[in-house]
Amino acid sequence: MRIALLGLGSMGAPMAANLARSDHDLTVWNRTRSKADALDGAVVAGSPAEAAASADVVLTMLSDDAAVEAVVFGGDGVLAGMPRGAAHASMSTISPALSRRLGAAHRDHGQRYVAAPVFGRPDAAAKGLLWVVASGAPDAIDACRAAFDAVAQGVIVAGSEPEQATVMKLAGNFMLASAIEAMAEAYALVRRHGIDSALFHETMASRLFRSPIYENYGGMIEAGRFEPAGFALTHGLKDIRYTLRASDEADAPMPFAGVLRDRLTSAVARGWGASDWAALGRVAAADAGGDVGSS
Ligand SMILES: NC(=O)c1ccc[n+]([C@@H]2O[C@H](COP(=O)([O-])OP(=O)(O)OC[C@H]3O[C@@H](n4cnc5c(N)ncnc54)[C@H](OP(=O)(O)O)[C@@H]3O)[C@@H](O)[C@H]2O)c1
Repeated sequence: MRIALLGLGSMGAPMAANLARSDHDLTVWNRTRSKADALDGAVVAGSPAEAAASADVVLTMLSDDAAVEAVVFGGDGVLAGMPRGAAHASMSTISPALSRRLGAAHRDHGQRYVAAPVFGRPDAAAKGLLWVVASGAPDAIDACRAAFDAVAQGVIVAGSEPEQATVMKLAGNFMLASAIEAMAEAYALVRRHGIDSALFHETMASRLFRSPIYENYGGMIEAGRFEPAGFALTHGLKDIRYTLRASDEADAPMPFAGVLRDRLTSAVARGWGASDWAALGRVAAADAGGDVGSS
């Protein structure tokens, strides 16, 4: 199968490496070309349209709505370049409104669209262990399955509407951010009371909350280790903003999401936007008069 992957950031680069090792023919494009040139086993295209022109499946792994809009709808964008019948799987975390717009635009061009955001950080991407959450027409999802298999351990089908996978991904990230904020506040509390934070972490992660989320994010907060970012805090803020838009659209109140937006915004204002979003731990510690890790 001929696959194009556009976007070689923290997630796209390891995904591209896995695709390059597979039996598929891979073409890549990245705004900063040097990242594409550094990849072995792939053809480097000069524009999104050129990358999409010879592809059966186009994967995009770009930062946010603005990036996806530029790469898809731009003059030499994916929409203009993709053959009729080819499928575009947008794997970024984007807004439900943009996912709907992509679905309609590809349909108007005789192309297929799958919303396909992922769970898993760059280390999981490197091992091909992402989870894809997909929504779209069943034939479009089937057309992308071989490409998903090369980068992920499984595909969860959320429904047939373009925004459904997007909303499922946002809801999941809202739960992750809520857990991180809860840990951030709890670890700051125990420190203020002179309790050994390593003991607290061990007790929570190995007994009450046995899950990689509490183990890994709790460990980062306990150690004050927020760099290098696996998932940049600015991307986390973007996701909570999209979550709030989805909540508005559906009249589904999410008061915690408003708190998370403010906590993440506070971190950005303090200059910690490029840190991992576990740096919510640094915000809680600083608010409690302490200091966790260096920025
Ligand atoms: N990191 C994670 O743990 C994780 C996990 C699950 C989902 N996600 C989601 O996956 C997506 C990618 O995340 P990431 O961590 O890989 O982000 P990243 O490291 O910041 O990479 C962003 C990519 O988007 C490109 N880009 C940004 N603005 C652009 C524009 N205006 N035009 C063209 N290209 C543009 C960048 O190109 P340049 O190289 O030129 O800057 C880069 O290839 C995001 O939607 C994120 O929310 C991330």
